[in-house]
This record gives sequence, structure tokens and C-alpha cells, in this order.
Amino acid sequence: MNSAEAQLRIQQLTNELRQHNYRYYVLNEPSISDFEFDQLLKELEHLEQLHPEFASPESPTLKVGGSVIDGFETIKHRRPMLSLGNTYNETELRDFDERTRKSTGLETIEYVCELKIDGLAISVFYENGKLVQAVTRGDGIQGDVVTENVKTIRNLPKTLRGNYPPLFEIRGEIFMHRKGFERLNQTRIEAGEPQYANPRNVASGSLKIKDSAEVAKRPLDIFLYQVYEDENVYPTHWDSLQSAQSWGLPVPQTAKKCSGLDEVLAFLHEWDEKRHDLSFDTDGVVIKVNDKRLQEELGFTAKTPRWAIAYKFQTETASTPLLGITYQVGRTGAITPVAELQPVVLLGTTVKRASLHNANEMERLDIRLGDTVFVEKGGEIIPKIVGVDFSLRPSNSTPLNYITHCPECGTELTRNEGEAQHYCPNDELCPPQVVGKLEHFIGRKAMDIQSVGSELCETLYRNNLVKDISDFYSLKLEDLLALDRMGDKLASNIIRGIEESKTQPFERVLFAMGIRYVGETVAKKLAAALRNINRIMSATVEELVAIDEIGDRIAETVVFYFQQPKHRELVERLRNAGLNFQAVIQEKLGDSLVGKSFVISGVFEKYSRDELKELVEQHGGKIASGVTSKTNYLLAGTGIGPSKLEKAEKLGVPLISEDDLIHMINGNS
Ligand code: IVH
Repeated sequence: MNSAEAQLRIQQLTNELRQHNYRYYVLNEPSISDFEFDQLLKELEHLEQLHPEFASPESPTLKVGGSVIDGFETIKHRRPMLSLGNTYNETELRDFDERTRKSTGLETIEYVCELKIDGLAISVFYENGKLVQAVTRGDGIQGDVVTENVKTIRNLPKTLRGNYPPLFEIRGEIFMHRKGFERLNQTRIEAGEPQYANPRNVASGSLKIKDSAEVAKRPLDIFLYQVYEDENVYPTHWDSLQSAQSWGLPVPQTAKKCSGLDEVLAFLHEWDEKRHDLSFDTDGVVIKVNDKRLQEELGFTAKTPRWAIAYKFQTETASTPLLGITYQVGRTGAITPVAELQPVVLLGTTVKRASLHNANEMERLDIRLGDTVFVEKGGEIIPKIVGVDFSLRPSNSTPLNYITHCPECGTELTRNEGEAQHYCPNDELCPPQVVGKLEHFIGRKAMDIQSVGSELCETLYRNNLVKDISDFYSLKLEDLLALDRMGDKLASNIIRGIEESKTQPFERVLFAMGIRYVGETVAKKLAAALRNINRIMSATVEELVAIDEIGDRIAETVVFYFQQPKHRELVERLRNAGLNFQAVIQEKLGDSLVGKSFVISGVFEKYSRDELKELVEQHGGKIASGVTSKTNYLLAGTGIGPSKLEKAEKLGVPLISEDDLIHMINGNS
């Protein structure tokens, strides 16, 4: 490579890496694997070493990739939050050990090995044993203050016990267990929303939610792995971890002290196997010099400490011929391209198919018929296609054109601006969409019609008995009896189940209708705020976004849905069948609390929190989740949250008891 070529390549790599950093840290939508990213970074590092004159002073090789989010207070870190040098092979690890031994003059180095958790770095401060601040990594120099969100993590103590330093910082990783991740994705599928790609993205997205109460619903967890205090009381990293544990902090139980490289390697091999049994994803091992004095001696490069290194597990990759691409049509009409593969065994399971997600992803991979592709399975369960083996590409291969028409019904596909997914708009007649909607309608969280299963939905549809959800309610016994393998008893059971579903409350009916983005929670919010279908059908985007948790995208989708006469007619048919389209009337009992905003916290003696909430609302008051200058009263029970108490004191918000509230309602405050 001549010098002009090197300059060009350095520019290219710099730009590319910046974009990938942005996608990873800010958008939470990485488009390449960590492995590919590291390869690009290494290429750039190498070229910059050969041609330092072309290296940008802002090169990605010198910087941690994140950036700060709008909407949270941004502060400078007390100590920069650095990243770690990465390696994928043992030779480089040997080099690391050799370098360390050489520069310290020691025979054997004592290391601490910790699993590298694939989550989101966080810095937490404790002052006099109280959690006072939590800050994201951001760009490594400054991060966002997300204290309230981090406090919702159950495993993280807000108050410490034992003999802790008066002020210290501890860093760690926020992450999500795979189970929680799958559960969360399930609710997204139910709402017809695209799924999250991996637990890391969700963990990161969760911390950016502006409402801590919402964050609290996300099953986040945390491990803390690095203590910083000014007095230097701990001679070793290991000691500091042990102490942190004694104060009640969640330090990784899998960490191990290793004397010399061989023990480190044994740890790596052990966990390369065992990691698949963990309940969370780990992408490697962090190896740290244990002695703090040695750490100090070794110091830092511009971006990483010289006393630690991350060994990344190589995920298992195989190459296999692509047999074809099929397109699945979901309940909401979303089209998912799927790669059909020559079966190949990866980490003990046979992989035959892998999702290609959407047209953008196919374009990015430049995947073509006749190709051989690389399939990868890491700590995650879901296999993914990470690339094409271009060396095996047939010379006559041509780029793929994404389908333009629905593979199931032939309707021309649509794609909204800014969205990755194509949709089949034929929601009334496209078979998988119709059957999908029927299945959704009878589902446990929707109308919960247990006498009708998925298979029966399909049968009823194929036999022209049920073509949309309202047809369930005009089914007759004789219709069913005409079906194969249908007896009297079964048939009347089915009819009875359908009949009983008419008593389901409005919010379930709304969810069961299967409107895109209207999942269980959104349906509840809409029903609670607007109370009946007529108001929802006539609501404007502005009215909808004024409701807690309803954003532009949901609002626009709901408005668009009800603009269509076919959907209004569907509502009429369901209404005539006797379904609930009115939320249970919460009687307005008075207006003594109009214009007053309350925050409820703690446990009460006479009423439950929900009852108190209802009481306030029935008398015209409003409930908010956090204490602000707009709060009029903090309704305080026993065990009230200390942060709420503190805030109320600071803002001069009066504390009242449940008796005080009753007095207020009765007009003698
Ligand atoms: S130590 C200067 N320990 O990996 C010390 N990091 O690539 C830097 N990580 O930013 C961090 N598990 O987000 C450390 N046991 C562990 C870790 C860990 C995961 C993450 C962390 C860090 C990144 C470095």
C-alpha cells in the first residue's frame, strides 16, 4: 500500500468506525458484530502506526465510542471511564503477560479474572453509605446522570451496611438476563412491534427512559467490578471487591484470583464452556493485575489501562450454503425475510434458518442466491448471519431484489419512511395476517377464549366460517358441527367460551383488536384516559400524545387505524355482538381535589395504594409518579422512599397521611 492509499484507507476506516460507534452507543442499533468492529479498529491502529502523519487527532482509536443523550444532565466524570484493550487469541494474551512481567520485573503476576458482561457501563457514587449519583459512560469523559433510573435496579442497594469509605465511586455493568429479555420481546411481538436485537440494547435503551417508574418495570440487573476511593485503603483489587461485597454490593461471584498466565488460561477455557449455562450473556473475560501499586506503576495509554485486558470469546462461526430466502408475514403484516440454510451444527444445536430482519440488513450483507454465508452463534441463543463468503460467490451471481408483493396474497408491499420493515397492507384478506389476528384475539391476555386454540382459528378461517374477529360472535353450533372431528360437546364448549368472552373489560377488547403498537400496556393507558371507543376513534394525534406514555408513532398509528371505514365498521360489528367498549365507569364522586397533584409513596393502613389513587382521581385530583415543584401533596405511608422524602423537604411539599386525605375530600382540611 503506498502512502496515498494508506491515507485514503485511514480516512475511510475513521469514518466507518465513527458511524459504527454512533450506531452502537447512541442508536443502540449496531449493524456489525463486535468482532468485525474490532477487526476494523485493529486495521486502523496498524495503519496509524505506520503512518502517524495521517491519523486524525480525533481518531476512534483514541476515544471511547459513546456520546451523551439529550434530556439528562451531563457531567464530567471524576476519572475518565476508559475502555479496555481487546484480544481474541491467547498469543496476544501471552504478550500482555510478558509485557507486564517485563515492566514490573516480576516472575509471576497475580491477576483477577472476571467475566466480561455484555451490558452498559455505569459509575455509581456512595456518600456516607447512601447511593447519591449514577452516571452513564457517555463518551468516557462526560456522561449522563441517570441516578433515579439506576435506583430502580432491585439488586443495587440504596443504603450500605458495614465499614464503607465515606465517599467512593464504584463502576460496573447494567445488564438484562436472557429470560427477562425474552419476556420483554414477547410483549413487543404482542404489540406488533419489532423485537429488540439483544439484551444489551434493551438495557441501554431502558436507562434512557425519562420515567423511572417505567424503568422499574424492566428486569435490569447489575454487577459492580471496580472500586475507586481516594484514601487507597485496599492494597489489591481483590480486597476491594471483597470489601464491596461486605457492604452489600453485588460483585460478580464468578471472579477468581489467578496466579500467573496458566491459571488465567484455565479460567478462560472453563468459562468458554460454562458461559452457555449462565442466565446472562458474557462476551469474554477481563483480566486485571491484582496489586494496586503495580496497577499504578503500569499506568494507562490514551484510551486503556496497561494493567488490564479483555479476552473476547470467539463465537462459533460456520459457513454453510444459503438454500433460499423465504418471507414470513406476521399478524400485523410485517414481512420478515428468513435465510433457509443447509443445516449446520453450531454450539451443539442444528441451525437451519436465520432471520435476515429486513431489506436493509439484506442489502448490508449483500446476500445473494447461490451464496455461502457465515452463520454465528455466540452467548446468545439466536443464530445470526454475519457475512457472505465472497470467495465462493458464483461469477454469474446478481444482487437480490427485495420482494415487492406479499408472498401470501400478492398485494403490493408498503414501507413507511424511516422504517426498516416492509408491510403487506392487505390486513383484511391476507391469510397469515387474518389468522394471526384471530389467534391474537383469543389469546390469554386478550379475550382469553380458552375453548378456541390456534389450530381451530386456522380451521375456521379455511372453512370460511370466521374471516375477521367479529365473526366469532356469529358462529352457530351447526357451523361447527359440520367440521371434521367435531362433536356436540366440543362444539357447545366452543360456543360457550366465545359467549363468556363478552364480559371482558374494554381494555382487553382494545388490546385484542390487534392494532399495531397497541400492546397490553398501551391499551390500558388508552382505555383509562379516554374511557370509551368513541373518544378513542375521534381522538387527534395531539390528544393522544398528551396521554402518559403515548408517543407520536403510536398516536399516528391509532389515528390512521380509525380513519379507515373498515375498522369503524369492525367496531360496530363487535359492539353489536355485545362486547365492552366502555371502561367501567369510575364514578366521579366530587371535585374537592380538582387542580391538586399528589404523589403516593409507602404502605398504608386503611387503604391500598390503588384504592388511594382511585380516591384521589374520583375527586378530581391527579396522581404523579415523582415529586416535583408542581406536586401539591406527598401522601406518605410507612417505608416511604427516602429520595421522595428528601425531594419533598427540599421543595417544601407538605406530607399528608391517609386520614388527612379523607379530611380533605370531606372538605374540612
Ligand atoms: S474494567 C479501566 N471489568 O467492558 C477498567 N470492565 O471494554 C475498565 N466490562 O467499559 C473496566 N465487564 O463496560 C471491567 N469485569 C469487568 C467488565 C468490564 C464488562 C465492560 C465495561 C468496560 C468495557 C471495556
